[in-house]
Amino acid sequence: MSTPTGNLVLEPTADGSMTLFSEDFGEWFHSRQGAYTEAYATYVEATDLASLAQAPALTLLDVCYGLGYNTAAALDTVLRVNPACRVRLVGLELDPRVPRQAVDQGLIGGWSASVQACLQDLAMAGEAQRPWLEANLLWGDARQRIGELDPAGFQADVIFFDPFSPPHCPELWTVEFIERVAACLHPEGKLVTYSCAAAVRTAMQAAGLSIGPISAAGRRWPGTLAQVNPTGLAPLSDQEREHLLTRAAVPYRDPTLGDSADAIRQRRQREQAVSNLVPTSRWRKRWLPPHQKVPPAR
Ligand SMILES: C[S@@+](CC[C@H](N)C(=O)[O-])C[C@H]1O[C@@H](n2cnc3c(N)ncnc32)[C@H](O)[C@@H]1O
Repeated sequence: MSTPTGNLVLEPTADGSMTLFSEDFGEWFHSRQGAYTEAYATYVEATDLASLAQAPALTLLDVCYGLGYNTAAALDTVLRVNPACRVRLVGLELDPRVPRQAVDQGLIGGWSASVQACLQDLAMAGEAQRPWLEANLLWGDARQRIGELDPAGFQADVIFFDPFSPPHCPELWTVEFIERVAACLHPEGKLVTYSCAAAVRTAMQAAGLSIGPISAAGRRWPGTLAQVNPTGLAPLSDQEREHLLTRAAVPYRDPTLGDSADAIRQRRQREQAVSNLVPTSRWRKRWLPPHQKVPPAR
């Protein structure tokens, strides 16, 4: 994946915070119902980060750092509930223009001054060091950079998993990439994403994770919380469980972690065509009113 060059277009969201639209991926960076709200509700609240931050130390992995909003919501929470907590944070991000634009255009102005200063350091220098924080951004394709995190030494308590949607960015939703990410999740840790796509949930299960739904702020569909240890996960509804038995649940695959988005999409289409799973149209007829679309692009 080469570095994107398309425009990043500024867009207000319903809670007053700003997001961007990526011309390269054809998608907004956040829910347009509220970008800051999404960072808090879908990522920080769903993982109960405020409780986890009561510990003396917290390790975070932010997959697709983007404008840094999820990181900002997490740091803001830690500083509020337990400033003595030592935070180790790694962010993965393809496009250095994104966090820099967030800083240059004043999009991070809604966070506290100390959090803003951390985001500035991360955007400009790729790292932020404080007595309580050691944070690094690994620029480039997350599929390659994740290999530099040694799971023996890096076990995240919380992983924010926030790529563009599977149809627009299939390379970050494959079984193989999610396996790499899951290897960096502490046995008692929590991985959270806004997506409830059946292909994503199957990939998480294939990576050895148990899954449960969470309410995803500003979205019609739930998100997903994934853990090695299933304790505490909400059960999937009948509708969600049946979705995993349809062809929508055929996961994306990328054996070398280097295929193009097109190649990954086409491989999945071929696997769906010969799959024994029931057509998703049957599930849709049973569960969704006729005008409603299958979940979810994002
Ligand atoms: C939905 S946005 C993330 C929003 C972000 N979490 C935030 O709070 O602002 C997706 C991000 O994934 C990045 N991205 C796309 N492909 C990538 C790849 N192969 N490796 C790493 N990052 C990638 C994009 O540049 C974009 O910043």
